[in-house]
Amino acid sequence: MTQHANHSLYALFRILLLCLGLMTASVSQAETKQAAVSMPDRHSAQVARQILAQGGHAVDAAVAAAFTLAVTYPEAGNLGGGGFMTLFASARDEADKSGDASPQSWFLDYREKAPKAADQDMYLDEEKAVIPFQSLVGYKASGVPGTVKGLWAAHQRFGRLPWKDLLQPAIDLARNGFVVPESLATTADWYQGWLEEKLSPAGQPLSVAAGFKAFADPLQAGKRWRQPALANTLTSLAEQGEAAFYQGVIADQMVKAMQAGGGLITHQDLAEYQVRWREPIRADWLDYELVSAPPPSSGGIAIAQLLKMKQLRQADFDKARNKGDLPDMALRTHFYAELAKRVYADRAEYLGDPDFVEVPVARLLSHDYLQERAQGMDFQSISKTETIRPGLAESTDTTHFSIIDGEGNAVSNTYTLNMPFGSGVVIDAAGFLMNNEMDDFSQKPGVPNVFGVIGGEANAIAPEKRMLSSMSPTILLQTDANGQTNVAAVVGTPGGSSIITSVFQVLVNVFERGLSAQQAVDTTRVHHQLWPKNEIKYHPTLSEATKDHLTLMGYQLKQHGYLGDVQLISRHNNQLSAAADQRGRGVAQVWEMHAD
Ligand code: GLY
Repeated sequence: MTQHANHSLYALFRILLLCLGLMTASVSQAETKQAAVSMPDRHSAQVARQILAQGGHAVDAAVAAAFTLAVTYPEAGNLGGGGFMTLFASARDEADKSGDASPQSWFLDYREKAPKAADQDMYLDEEKAVIPFQSLVGYKASGVPGTVKGLWAAHQRFGRLPWKDLLQPAIDLARNGFVVPESLATTADWYQGWLEEKLSPAGQPLSVAAGFKAFADPLQAGKRWRQPALANTLTSLAEQGEAAFYQGVIADQMVKAMQAGGGLITHQDLAEYQVRWREPIRADWLDYELVSAPPPSSGGIAIAQLLKMKQLRQADFDKARNKGDLPDMALRTHFYAELAKRVYADRAEYLGDPDFVEVPVARLLSHDYLQERAQGMDFQSISKTETIRPGLAESTDTTHFSIIDGEGNAVSNTYTLNMPFGSGVVIDAAGFLMNNEMDDFSQKPGVPNVFGVIGGEANAIAPEKRMLSSMSPTILLQTDANGQTNVAAVVGTPGGSSIITSVFQVLVNVFERGLSAQQAVDTTRVHHQLWPKNEIKYHPTLSEATKDHLTLMGYQLKQHGYLGDVQLISRHNNQLSAAADQRGRGVAQVWEMHAD
């Protein structure tokens, strides 16, 4: 071939490449590159958006937001707690640096673990009675924290921006301070009173209350709050990565505090703590695939059971509604309560840490099992609580956020200290709070925890075991006729055991009842969990007429201002909507990526 021919071929090749490039550009310009965040506060919303604008993956935004919330949302945002992350990666091969050709959705378990020195009777007295509040307040209430290693692991696998850059917004907020919102000041005030009341009878060192008071005193609504010790901790994490927390200076600070306060967490507990990538719960529902939290969360199984049993009895529900014996909301509440009775009975019996107990996931979600289970309910009367047995033969302050980036990658993340401000223990030198997640174990079979849920042997305390959770970071996927899978929803909420029923109701509100994202989140929610007997918790917006009907049926009604703080993103006709629960201080935004 002559040199001239070579040049011509090269020129042709260039033109072809240019055309291809232009085509790609025009296709991607024509595509709507929407991104969305639904976050528990304005700082985390701003930081997540900023990270996405810098070219970050949804996971980068999630990591930066989680560290930000540890500063600006100390009720639940944390370094000293743990959580779960459900993820969807739109381009499998590129997004997953591990080269794993597994499905596009993943689940990261960074739940706390019981310290090695924990034992089944650690919260019982000599008569084997539960010592009140031992698992809730003070040093012995904490599990080994998982948050820092969880965020590190997510970033290692999916992150695009440097780790250090993701911590910088949180460092700035901790060092320069932020203006304390009213709800944070009020919750801190309430918690301080609660702590003082509970510590003394529980025989806990009053230094816990004094430590929390020193932490919470500057939390005055409208005043700037600076956290220099936390800024230093975050700087160590930015510079040294997770090792600073599990082996380095922060580990030393935690262990020193634990030793002084009678806690159980040791250097070895921290050094050996590991996160787990687990198979999420996947279940078909309507035209969607539900992807949610597997054990040690009860959430994914419970939500799938609720949705599937509801489908199985939908025709009967519609018939009862047409008959008109009960107004719509009263009938709906009764229906949901009947479904929940069965689900929470299974939760108590079968669910625990899958590294310790065998959880019969497939059987609990099988069509035949759910069909049989759903048959027993009646649309006029309440099933007797005592007769709802497990079916197989043989806290309220957590925080959730939802993110979708411009490429369709999604993160649904719920993490927690358990109660607002956790155990009340402040690691003073490091500027953060410790969790009281040990209360999510069943202290003794049949004795309820702070959320009133009862557990059995499957969730008994054991060294290095993870306590059962209700946290349910959930993603709904839809695959189109071309085989392209997109995220239809990203949703989750705090709320202890009511997380399950809140996520269930919000999904039904959007995808069955056709409510907008904001309506679906803000509309009245109800909650029942088998025990206390026939008790229904409800948002204050439940109508008087509905309450009268439910009372006549035999329900005990209990008003609850707080049944979660749902953060939802949903997609309809290829347009994203985002909604933050208006009962909280969340912020939701949808925007076109090229607009930034
Ligand atoms: N600590 C609340 C939960 O994990 O469900």
